[in-house]
Amino acid sequence: MGRVTLVRFFKSSGDLDREIEAVPGTNLLDLAQASGQALEGSCEGSMACSTCHVIVAAEDFGRLPPASEEEEDLLDLAAHANRRSRLACQLAVPDGAPFSVTIPPSAYNLDR
Ligand code: FES
Repeated sequence: MGRVTLVRFFKSSGDLDREIEAVPGTNLLDLAQASGQALEGSCEGSMACSTCHVIVAAEDFGRLPPASEEEEDLLDLAAHANRRSRLACQLAVPDGAPFSVTIPPSAYNLDR
């Protein structure tokens, strides 16, 4: 078997909800949905809705490539966004150490 990264999904309360092994490069929204996380992802990755918003753990944020301007613009409007916010539809699971994200308590669907 090839390399896998342990991905941890936390609830907005801070409690660990689920940890799951993923092949690096797996789309984070697909992985989240496959593991039962409440991320609607209603625009299916076309960066129109922000319902795939996640908050990346401080120690993991720097492992991700920077957000595009389009992603940043949408994050400015996302519910509960902070400086570690990203759109899961735009993220690939990184290689290496466990990777943790928090699912925000709610989301706005901007694609309406
Ligand atoms: Fe809509 Fe990510 S799925 S912005």
